[in-house]
Amino acid sequence: MNVRESALKTLAGANGKFVSGAQLADKIGVSRNAVWKAVKSLENEGFAIEAVSGKGYRISPENNVLSAEIISAGLKTQRRLVVLSETDSTNNYAKELASDGATHGTAVIADSQTAGKGRLGRSFFSPPGTGLYLSVIIRPDISLETAQLITSCAAVAAAEAVEELCGRDVSVKWVNDLYMNGRKICGILTEASLSLETKSLDYAVIGIGINVLSVKNIFGQELNDTAASVEDETGVKINRNTLCSVLLNRLDERLADIENRSFLENYRRREILTGNVITANAGGEKVTGTAIGIDDNASLIIQLPDGSVRALSSGEASLCRVKKE
Ligand code: BTN
Repeated sequence: MNVRESALKTLAGANGKFVSGAQLADKIGVSRNAVWKAVKSLENEGFAIEAVSGKGYRISPENNVLSAEIISAGLKTQRRLVVLSETDSTNNYAKELASDGATHGTAVIADSQTAGKGRLGRSFFSPPGTGLYLSVIIRPDISLETAQLITSCAAVAAAEAVEELCGRDVSVKWVNDLYMNGRKICGILTEASLSLETKSLDYAVIGIGINVLSVKNIFGQELNDTAASVEDETGVKINRNTLCSVLLNRLDERLADIENRSFLENYRRREILTGNVITANAGGEKVTGTAIGIDDNASLIIQLPDGSVRALSSGEASLCRVKKE
């Protein structure tokens, strides 16, 4: 590890407290002048570092540069983190790592994506400096039936993480979009690789995109009508590195319990379609009915006008329209 990396790691590990130049120099085993140079080089990269005489240095709570060292400092379980300033899609990057054997928990994070992917072949607008674009490789030992719950489980983890940091309610709109005040702030795309030999899950890549900081002047009018960011909806500027650590911790906890479906109770409490008349596209067929709940497979149960009941699985159906009752 070079001086720059050591200084960043030490400052990240101090959790917002000041570390004196002498302490840093001592810990890293270099001169105070070398520490000063490392801090200057971090500042040149864009890191916001506060230097206060008599106290030392700390990473400013306002720092908005994504960093593996800072994210790692907030993790309960360490893992490989790949932090990129730009990539086409963190899901694509993570899938390549996974097919090369990357281990469970490996995460790819990007400041921006040039070809961010959404569900059903849609794109996910991913401008720099505002969002958290994260893909996590998981290799859980679960049945294919349980694997279908991964995205819903991740939606609960993401809702909990955002809520913990901004103190405001986050809703889930089936299938797996997160909403605040009726506007989408997060989407999730899970891609999986199955082993034909064992007929089981080889790995899954959970891709989570959260609009964190204001997008008002960045998103075009059309996108602004439906999508928003946590800051635009709450006025709270969540730190993206902190959000990434909290989200990875929550994801670990929720996924560890996926078999017993305990996350579903939390999912149902947040779900906003229930009680509304919806039209969904189920395998090419348009189905209209009243959403009456979420079943144990995270399918949306709808009651059709003839009184019959149908479960729409997230894999097969997508939402077309919601009519408020
Ligand atoms: C959706 O809203 O339809 C799902 C959006 C998923 C976006 C995330 S951003 C991180 C990861 N990389 C991608 O290309 N997509 C997912």
